[in-house]
This record gives sequence, C-alpha cells and structure tokens, in this order.
Amino acid sequence: MSHILVTGAAGFIGSHTVDQLLAAGHRVTGVDSFRTGHRANLANALREPAFALHEADVAADGVVDGLVAAAKPDAVIHLAALVSVQESIRNPDLNYTLNVHAVQFVAEAARRHGVARLVFASSAAVYGDTADLPLHERSAVQPISPYGAAKLAAEAILLGYARSFALTVRCHRYFNVFGPRQDPASPYSGVISIFNRRYREGLGVTIYGDGSQTRDFVSVHDVARANVLAATRPGIPTGVANICTGRATSLREVVAEFARHHPAVPAPRFEAARGGDILHSRGDATLAERELGFRARVSVADGLAELVRTG
Ligand code: UD1
Repeated sequence: MSHILVTGAAGFIGSHTVDQLLAAGHRVTGVDSFRTGHRANLANALREPAFALHEADVAADGVVDGLVAAAKPDAVIHLAALVSVQESIRNPDLNYTLNVHAVQFVAEAARRHGVARLVFASSAAVYGDTADLPLHERSAVQPISPYGAAKLAAEAILLGYARSFALTVRCHRYFNVFGPRQDPASPYSGVISIFNRRYREGLGVTIYGDGSQTRDFVSVHDVARANVLAATRPGIPTGVANICTGRATSLREVVAEFARHHPAVPAPRFEAARGGDILHSRGDATLAERELGFRARVSVADGLAELVRTG
C-alpha cells in the first residue's frame, strides 16, 4: 500500500484516479480548489476512511509544500490545471499561474520532502498541429496555444528536476479523454461529453465540418489506470509517454454509436469547420506499453455505451 497525493482530485480525471487508487487499497490525500472540479465527483471516495480531501489552491505559495510536508506521500499525481485551450487563450496569465508556476511548486515540494515519484498531466497539445501521424514522443513539439506551451514548459521543468534530484517523473501526454463526469458545459468541452448530453436530451448534435475528422479517444478509466500504474508500479523510469489508444475514430463513427442508442433523436446538423481545428490526431501507444505496462482497454463503442447508461 502506498500513500498518494492527488492534486485536482475533484476533477474529471482526478476523481477517477482517486477512485482507482482507493479500489487498489492505497491511501489517498486529495486537494482541489473547486475552480473547475466538483465535490460530487468524489461522492464515493468521501465515504472511504483511506481518503482525505483538502480544499486549497496548489498555485498559491506554500500550499503544496504544506500538504506534502504533512502527508509525506510516496508519490504525487499532479492533475490540477487550467484545462481549456480556449481559456488559456482568453487568460494566458492564469494559464501560466496554474499550468507552469504551480508545477514548480509541486516539483520543489517533492524535492524538499523526498517524494520518490511525480506523475504529471501533460497533453497531446504539446505537439500542435502536425500532419505526421501517428504522433510519437519523438515527434516535433510545436504547441499552438498558451495551453500546449505551458504543458511543454512544465514537462521540461519536471524532467530537469528528475535529472538533478532523486525523483522519478512520468509526464503523461493525454489524447482526447472521454467518459463519465466530463463537464459538457462549454461549447469547447470534449465533443463526446457535448454529444452525450444532447442525445440524452433528445436533441440533435452539430458537427463542425463533414464529420470525417478523427481523434484518438481514450477512456478516462484507462487514463486513470495509467496514472495509478505510473505512481505505484515498481521500477518505472523517468519519461514522457503518450496516453492514447493508437486508434483513430471519426466523428461520424461517434455519432453513429450514439444514434444506435438513441434512434429517435434527429440526425446531426452540419456546420462549417471550427477555425483552428485540426483534422486528424492519433498517438503512437507503444512507449507507454513498454515503459509503463499500460495498454488502453476500453473501446470507443464500449465507452460510449457506458456513458449512455450512466449519464
Ligand atoms: C482540443 C481542445 C480544444 C482546442 C483544440 C486545439 C478539448 C476538449 N478541446 O480540441 O479546446 O481548441 O484541441 O487543437 O480538449 N465538434 C463538433 N461538434 C461539437 C463539438 C466539437 O463537431 O459540438 C468537433 C470539433 O470541431 C472537432 C472535434 O469535434 O473537430 C473534436 O473536438 P474537441 O472534443 O473539442 O477536441 P479537439 O478538436 O481535439
């Protein structure tokens, strides 16, 4: 049994990560500012004696240091972040504070208090818009948003710490994560969360472009499992790895799945492609398998069926 500190514990990925850690018998200290996280995501975890939750902002000076000093965790999974590319464009300063500055606090707290391992939520956004698929960890990194740039800067900070101090760092470049608890509130929320809500409400969806665009959709259950592996599996090296399935799914295929579950809902409307959208994205999944023993298990069809069942 390990003791793991999870930042962003009440978020979409954080809460699933906490649930899986607890299910595996670990002790978990969670922290969340509730800026975008929701206490309801932790309804199950909060019933567990092995779980403690702190409401605090890890981007504030001294917060992570205090938490790490008190909890003395074996590993930190740092998921607290500004999670929207659009918000990073509207508010680059906040993006810097939450996605770069806070990472420095986490790295320094880990170093000062002898934490052995740090897992970081990076993103496929570090690659930017490249036609050279699948995206490999050796592919060029050319972020096209403050969000992608901040994630890349944070990776560099953490890898510098790993090279200099007794700290193993895992940077996870998540692809398009989907599943229960993803917030569909904004037009820029993950497309699957938006489509799920619309289909549930009996409303048709809007496809921007012709629906032939593809993404590497990875289930939040798989992503959480990758986090647990990275934090707890013995003998893992420092490194950066894609967390993806290696498979591309088109928006038309996604819509066809929803339509199968909701036959009465009107057919989608098509509108002009969104400015700045990329056409295709797909990751190479081999490195995470080799270094972490991680392989995505949930297919898009099964993941969507679960969403339809659970909301
Ligand atoms: C991701 C980011 C987005 C950012 C983009 C930069 C998320 C959730 N989104 O978008 O903020 O600008 O990288 O490359 O991380 N779509 C529809 N109908 C909808 C909603 C979306 O057709 O109602 C389409 C989009 O136009 C896009 C596809 O679905 O072609 C996937 O969209 P999204 O889930 O936002 O993911 P990314 O495009 O990868």
